[in-house]
Amino acid sequence: MTLRSVTLLGATGSVGRSVCDVVAENPERLAIETVVGGRDAAALAALARQTGARFAALADETAGEALRAALAGSGIANGAGRGAVLEAVARPADIVVSAISGAAGLEATFAALAPGRALALANKESLVCAGEAVMARAQAVGARLLPLDSEHNALHQVLGGEPISAVRGMTLTASGGPFRSWSAAEIAEARPEQALKHPNYAMGAKITIDSASMMNKGLELIEARFLFGLRPDQLDVLVHPQQIVHGLVTFRDGSVSAGMAVPDMRVAAAHCLGLDGRLDAPPTRFFDLALQEPLAFERPDLVRFPALALAMAALAAGGAQPAILNAANEVAVAAFLAGRIAFPGIPALVDAVCAEAASARWSAPRDIAEALAIDHDARRRAAALLSQGPFAVT
Ligand SMILES: NC(=O)c1ccc[n+]([C@@H]2O[C@H](COP(=O)([O-])OP(=O)(O)OC[C@H]3O[C@@H](n4cnc5c(N)ncnc54)[C@H](OP(=O)(O)O)[C@@H]3O)[C@@H](O)[C@H]2O)c1
Repeated sequence: MTLRSVTLLGATGSVGRSVCDVVAENPERLAIETVVGGRDAAALAALARQTGARFAALADETAGEALRAALAGSGIANGAGRGAVLEAVARPADIVVSAISGAAGLEATFAALAPGRALALANKESLVCAGEAVMARAQAVGARLLPLDSEHNALHQVLGGEPISAVRGMTLTASGGPFRSWSAAEIAEARPEQALKHPNYAMGAKITIDSASMMNKGLELIEARFLFGLRPDQLDVLVHPQQIVHGLVTFRDGSVSAGMAVPDMRVAAAHCLGLDGRLDAPPTRFFDLALQEPLAFERPDLVRFPALALAMAALAAGGAQPAILNAANEVAVAAFLAGRIAFPGIPALVDAVCAEAASARWSAPRDIAEALAIDHDARRRAAALLSQGPFAVT
């Protein structure tokens, strides 16, 4: 049995910890060699010790001293800052898991694409911001891209060895989030603590807010477009509160195949980390359809959830619009969590930034430098609009 080495980017986050569970369940198949986090030195040091990693890196340079102190005596090499993160990515690994939150993960994800390597991608923002560049780079260097996002993982598994030309369309399911059955007036008053209550998953704050606004599903449509090479009109969304069916592939001949599993990121993580062989699952990850509440499906409501409509428009527009949408959304989500804007201010700010940019018709970034420049510019614009006040909570 081959022991595969794993580099884990975003190790201390929700996806990162799911990956650690899968590795712990399969010690004869997988070993974590390198862990990377953002700024929490204590959490990263504890995880590095627990997983037996040999190298730990934090993105935040100012946390380097705290990381050194927390790892003293462990023999685990460590560093902090952009250089340390890139060093971590460059270290030998069979599999790199990209689970940093947001566009902050773009550079490390791109750098992780190396010949013969597998990249398990949870950081959907990389494909949203630079889908063409990431896919082209993966192909050029011979890296294998495996979707870790549960919907894309299910679609990837359902597709199996079929060519994409056999596919008529793909459907991604969405829980509908905590506001699925709320009226528009109720959603307008939603507070951060209410938006942070996802019905099925315990996730990082950014993706949880995106699930409440349904922007997350919009970002996932864009992710799917690049991952599978489909046209925007071949992709759609169904709200499915139980989140047992994660994705549906409709083939040209009318056959429809569903990818199913309990809503638990360890399932998709186990599939990615298994590469060409199935791994053992922690025991809670099986379900009995006969005991399951009836599976329900409904169309998304684009009026109550305008963020999804904005993402669909960016998907259709292409070029730099998805990257601009993503940057504006990251600024808007942070502002909502900080109490600076109300919940409807999120799509309103995204709409304002996207509308301004639409007339410029910027083309898709050809590389990471261009993607980062577009991202920074859109953030600046979003911040400026935010400070002018129209979106502020009164
Ligand atoms: N959670 C899920 O179930 C789920 C499902 C599908 C896809 N995803 C995607 O997976 C990604 C991670 O989501 P999450 O929920 O796991 O997020 P999370 O819980 O917020 O964790 C984010 C991780 O990234 C680290 N990080 C933040 N900024 C960083 C930077 N600049 N450089 C390096 N590391 C950085 C954080 O470390 P610190 O805490 O130290 O900052 C943490 O380890 C997102 O792209 C999300 O859309 C998540």
